[in-house]
Amino acid sequence: MEVRKLNPAVGAEIVDLDINNITEAEFGCLVEAWDSHGGLLFRDQRLSNDALVDFAARFGELEAAPVMENGRTPVPGYPEIYVVSNVLGTDGKPIGSLGAGEAVWHTDMSYLETPPDASMLYALEVPPTGGDTWLAGMSAAYEGLPDQLKVEIRGKRIKHDGTFNSGGFKRAGVEVREDPRESIGAYHPIVCAHPRTGQPALYLGRRRLAYVEGLELAASEALLDQLWAHATKPEYVFSHSWRVGDLLMWDNRATLHRRDPFDADARRIMHRTQIKGATAPLAA
Ligand code: SIN
Repeated sequence: MEVRKLNPAVGAEIVDLDINNITEAEFGCLVEAWDSHGGLLFRDQRLSNDALVDFAARFGELEAAPVMENGRTPVPGYPEIYVVSNVLGTDGKPIGSLGAGEAVWHTDMSYLETPPDASMLYALEVPPTGGDTWLAGMSAAYEGLPDQLKVEIRGKRIKHDGTFNSGGFKRAGVEVREDPRESIGAYHPIVCAHPRTGQPALYLGRRRLAYVEGLELAASEALLDQLWAHATKPEYVFSHSWRVGDLLMWDNRATLHRRDPFDADARRIMHRTQIKGATAPLAA
């Protein structure tokens, strides 16, 4: 197998590796690449649901999939698989989450006290164009912050809202509050230390209904706008154009991700697994 960097700030492609047949030595190299790059891409894979779950479980205990916005639970027999799809089932309802629109920049499930460490997305059906997934490297983004902004955010925490998912859909059973201080969610340090590498990284979650603890709302909005504009600059991001059989995994402690919209009449079916957080995000 070979490790090819995708972008100076984040991501590497693992070439010549069949996920169905990974030796212990190869897995050791994968873990090294994982720690160094924050995102790994594998192409031309053929994974059953069992194989996807087994591969994810090599990185840690799996998190049950979140309840989808349609209120449904995931793939029968696979509570760990979250379906990301715009395809309608025989009952006319979407079989998965996030529709065909843009999924805005976010980190998965950061509204939890202990969010998942990582997520894996495996492509079963992809549209002819659109639906690209983007990763942004948050260690590089932290390093690149102006000094004055580093000082301003030192010791501060953000409230990560749990009302809406990244597709803009309200989560089932959650009440909408317009004031971010009142909505459901969890507080996490703005700058977190990666528990494996110790690297400091920005941990922003998602922009909508976010709030910087202890600030007036207007000051919180202004600071968040500055941080988000910086963290998603072109030098920190790369985009991935999907083919069937691609698997992209990202480290939620070191990256943000988003997705481009695509034609709602085209079909896109992705299966996602989440690796449980070993610890709550740690202040750097
Ligand atoms: C996600 O945000 O987990 C899904 C991203 C995608 O659909 O590409």
